[in-house]
Formats: sequence, C-alpha cells, structure tokens
Amino acid sequence: MSNKPHIIGKKCTLCDRKFGFDEIELTCPHCGETGILDVEYDYDYIRPLFPVYRTGSPRRDLFRFAPLLPLALDGPRPQTAVGPTPMVHAVRLGRHVGIPGTWIKDDGRLPTASFKDRASAIAVARAKELGINLIAAASTGNAAASLAGLCAPEGITAVIFVPKAAPPAKIAQLLTFGAQVFLVDGTYDDAFALSLKAADRFGWYLRSTAINPLLAEGKKTGVLEALEELGYDNPPDFVFVSVGDGCIAAGLAKGIMDLHALGAIPYKPRLVGVQAVNSRVIYEAWKAGTETVTPMPPSTRADSISVAFPRDAVKALRGIRATNGLMVTVEDEAIFEAGRLMGTYAGVFAEPAAATAFAGVLALKAEGTIQPHHRCLVFSTGSGLKDVAGASMAAGSARLVTGLADLEKIFAPGS
Ligand SMILES: Cc1ncc(COP(=O)(O)O)c(C=O)c1O
Ligand SMILES: [Zn+2]
Repeated sequence: MSNKPHIIGKKCTLCDRKFGFDEIELTCPHCGETGILDVEYDYDYIRPLFPVYRTGSPRRDLFRFAPLLPLALDGPRPQTAVGPTPMVHAVRLGRHVGIPGTWIKDDGRLPTASFKDRASAIAVARAKELGINLIAAASTGNAAASLAGLCAPEGITAVIFVPKAAPPAKIAQLLTFGAQVFLVDGTYDDAFALSLKAADRFGWYLRSTAINPLLAEGKKTGVLEALEELGYDNPPDFVFVSVGDGCIAAGLAKGIMDLHALGAIPYKPRLVGVQAVNSRVIYEAWKAGTETVTPMPPSTRADSISVAFPRDAVKALRGIRATNGLMVTVEDEAIFEAGRLMGTYAGVFAEPAAATAFAGVLALKAEGTIQPHHRCLVFSTGSGLKDVAGASMAAGSARLVTGLADLEKIFAPGS
C-alpha cells in the first residue's frame, strides 16, 4: 500500500496529463519548465482525518495539517518547527483606515522571518523522505534564506542563487546559515535560469519556486492556519496577499479550495492578489482575462516581488478566479505608506513586499470594493528586518538630540 493514501497524484496545469506522485518531482516532461504540476488529493480519504489529525507529536507546527500535505502521513519531518504564527486582530489599524474587521497574519515571525518557511519545510521533509542531502534554489532572497535556515540543522547542503542586488540582510542570513551562496550578476530571473541549468547539469533537487509543485502545498498552510484561528465556520470576506511569481497566491487559493472541498468552510473567501504597479505581469493577464503572461522588466523597491517572468502565473490566476477573487496594483509610495500604518497602528514590522498586501486593502477601500463591514485577512509575508534600508526609506529618520535642553523645547515649550 502507498505511504500516501491521501494523494491521488500530480497533474500538469498546461496539458492535464496525470502522473503518479513519485513519478516526477518537478515539471511536466511534455510541457517543459512551464508545465507546472498540481498535487491532487483524495478528499473522501481526508475528510474523516480533518481538522483533527493526531500526529502523536506535541508540536503545533504546520505538519498537523498532514492529511492535506504532499508527504507520507507519518514520514520524516524537519527539526525546525514552522508555525503557527500570530494572527493579529488589528483593531487600532482597522479603526484608523475604516475597516474594523482587519486581521494580520504575521508570517514575518516564522523561523527565518518570511512566509517562505512554509514551503521550505515541505521541501526539506521531501528531501528527507528521498534521502537527498543537497537542495538548490534561486530566489529573490527570502525563499533561499528560508531553505538555508531549515537545511542547517539537518546537515543538508543548500546551494543558493540570488540576484547580486538582494538586500544585505537576506545575504547575511544565507551566509550565517552556512549555505553555498552564489550572487548572480543579473536579475532574479537570471538567477532562476541559472538554477535550472545547474540543477539539470548536476542532478540537484530544486526548491526554486513553482517548478517544484510541493511548495504551493506548504504555502497553503498559511490559510489553513489563519482560517482555523478565525473559526472555519466564520471565514473572512477577503484574503490579501502580495504577488511576485504567484506561488504564495496559488498556495493560499489551494488551501481555500481544499477547505471548501472538504466541507470545512461554508463559503470561499475572495483572494486578492496585489502587485506593485511596475511589476504587474500577472495583474495584466488577470485584467485581460487570459492565462498568458507577457514578461515585462520590473522596477519596484519591493524586491521580493520584483519579477519579469512570473513562474506560477497560471496556478495563481486560476486560484484567484476560483475564489471569485481579484487583483489590484499599487505604487511604491503606497507600499511605504502601508508599511508605516502597519507599524504605527498594529505593531507589525513588514518588509515592502509584505506591506504591499495591506496597500491593496487601502486601494480597494479607496475605490469602494472594500466596505467598512468587510472582514479582511492580510498576509504579512516578511519581516521589516529583512530590508532595513527599505524600512528606513518608509519611516524617515529620527531626531538628533544633544541633551535635556533639546527635549525641553519639545515636551515643555514656553516653560
Ligand atoms: C516577503 C514576500 N512577499 C511576497 C512574495 C511573493 O511571493 P510569490 O513570488 O510566490 O508571488 C515573496 C516572494 O519572494 C516574498 O518574499
Ligand atoms: Zn504538461
């Protein structure tokens, strides 16, 4: 008997060909690197195991959702516990912007300070299942830092390709975690292309986004966890997430669809994908009603979502449409403003790509799509500590004082 009785197999999103789960690790051999696979589950098998699956472990991390994950139910797990993260009912922020039902899922507080830990946990677990001791990845920085951090305690080698302009904090994380780091003289898209060539040449297992179909499955745990916390019978109206390659959006949509297929939620919250206006390839396809993307050179200060050729566009677009969701774009200045508001009114420190999701809430509120009674769940996907220069650009600089006399002028003027 299969050690994954809850899984049917993998299906190509382009040609619909079906494969056994263990037959292929990455993309469809007929469609090449754009033939992204999707994991299909046996919901009838899973229904009695959900939502309470007894793992026999006191850990509350994402593996308590094992029946909805693409791994053996009782297989090896990474040592690092990933999740749960805080769900902040951002009362003061919500009141300030006129949407009292604003919740922030602060995934900047995962072990390596970004949402990507959810996917890396699955990649590392799969490597342990297969007995693999090297994982390679291209990344704008967070996915790589996450992979390196989760590989370190396992003794698995992480080989990393990041653009040379990645924020220093992300590179410092990578080096500290002992990864083999290659700064690619080019963009994220160049780093991605090199990771594909190198994996092909050296036979490596790849954790580069989208092409490894298990990653979106890990990302869906964000929504499983958040909706569990809100109460499965009481989902929000909207779920906001920023979009670069589209893999997080694809994963969150999958989580919503899984919960709905299991009958765990009464309706599907609408997923909103938010892109920076100058990195909006998936948005353009959404607006045109197609699944065909036209690459466009990006230019946004939100480095994690600066992508010319998004790798998970088809899954993301289908997922957003399947939840009756929508997409919106925001200017960099609106991203900075959103980050300031999240910090000032909710105490959440978000990197620019993470603040982008909340900027989307503000944009849809301004155009009237979001009304004051709507309940909005916002994913904050990376910590502000990841990009201190970006945070400083948003927050401005502090005042210099030389002594009490300066404070007198501020706190006791005219005395
Ligand atoms: C902090 C942060 N937010 C959002 C994203 C976008 O995720 P995706 O590329 O899957 O759309 C990333 C990806 O690197 C990220 O690091
Ligand atoms: Zn195919």
